[in-house]
Amino acid sequence: MGKQRVLSGIQPTGDLHLGNYLGAIRNWVEIQQEFDSFLFMADLHAITVPQDPKLLADSTYKVAALYLACGIDLEHATIFVQSHVPAHSELAWLLMCITPLNWLEDMIQFKEKAVKQGENVGAGLLNYPVLQAADILLYEPDKVPVGEDQKQHLELTRDIAARLNYQFGSETQPILKLPEPMIRAAGARVMSLTDGTKKMSKSDPSDLSRISLLDPPEQIQHKIKRCKTDPVRGLQFDDAARPECHNLLSLYMIFSNQSKEAVAQECADMGWGQFKPLLTDTLITALKPIQEKYTQIRAEPGYLDAVLHDGKQKAEAIANFTLNKVKQALGFSIPT
Ligand code: TRP
Repeated sequence: MGKQRVLSGIQPTGDLHLGNYLGAIRNWVEIQQEFDSFLFMADLHAITVPQDPKLLADSTYKVAALYLACGIDLEHATIFVQSHVPAHSELAWLLMCITPLNWLEDMIQFKEKAVKQGENVGAGLLNYPVLQAADILLYEPDKVPVGEDQKQHLELTRDIAARLNYQFGSETQPILKLPEPMIRAAGARVMSLTDGTKKMSKSDPSDLSRISLLDPPEQIQHKIKRCKTDPVRGLQFDDAARPECHNLLSLYMIFSNQSKEAVAQECADMGWGQFKPLLTDTLITALKPIQEKYTQIRAEPGYLDAVLHDGKQKAEAIANFTLNKVKQALGFSIPT
């Protein structure tokens, strides 16, 4: 029996940070031996909010290089750029025409992002989850590893697929396969360094709120020095009144590869002045191999182009097959 397939992606906007790593990429690396993985850079999604055209292509390459630097192995995974496979845009259109408007208006992320965009809410922001449904359904994956915040988009994807199957397929022969979400345990949520109750995010206006995977040591040191703490002495996990403390201890635990008990014991009597340098060193040491590999990948002429070219070929073969299946079911003529 062949391996099950997983598919996931990240938008190439801003620099990838510890939250992206622990929340997404690290999990992909952990499961990659077990699955046939399709991992992409969602550049079409990125432009649902304004992007600088001068940066878009480079950000896309940067993310591809980081996937590899973080340990994604091309023996198990296919890495590709969403916009290199036109079937994504095309299926999105077909799906848009069977998706009720109110399903999209009910999406939490749309409502949140629309508020942030103020007067200038593009139709792309509303249709974002339909494109995501197309991304997923094209590859007929068994599992889609995503964070808790994407759960609603996964449910919508299933609803759209079920609707298409119901309207155009038969019960014995569904057109599209319904994917299962693979939602990570809540424990992997990395919080902002400036507010322990908010998620670490690329869109936070303050760069001090996050540590990027490519931050040099001085910057990591600076950010940890400035990060929010509290006046309590002695550090402990799981105190709801001390969200920053829990977050920083968790980062230390994960990046130093220790158990929760060991860290709880080690830090029980520490003050911040003692803990912060420890965390700083741990992060610098943990990110160093990723940064070195990244530099190496970016310095090799033509390497990334070749990886992405290969990825496009592999992705396109599967995506076009599914797209044709849908077009046929909808009654389109297929060119010979
Ligand atoms: N919306 C996802 C996010 O912001 C990114 C994404 C786009 C995605 N298409 C996808 C994730 C398909 C999984 C599958 O995290």
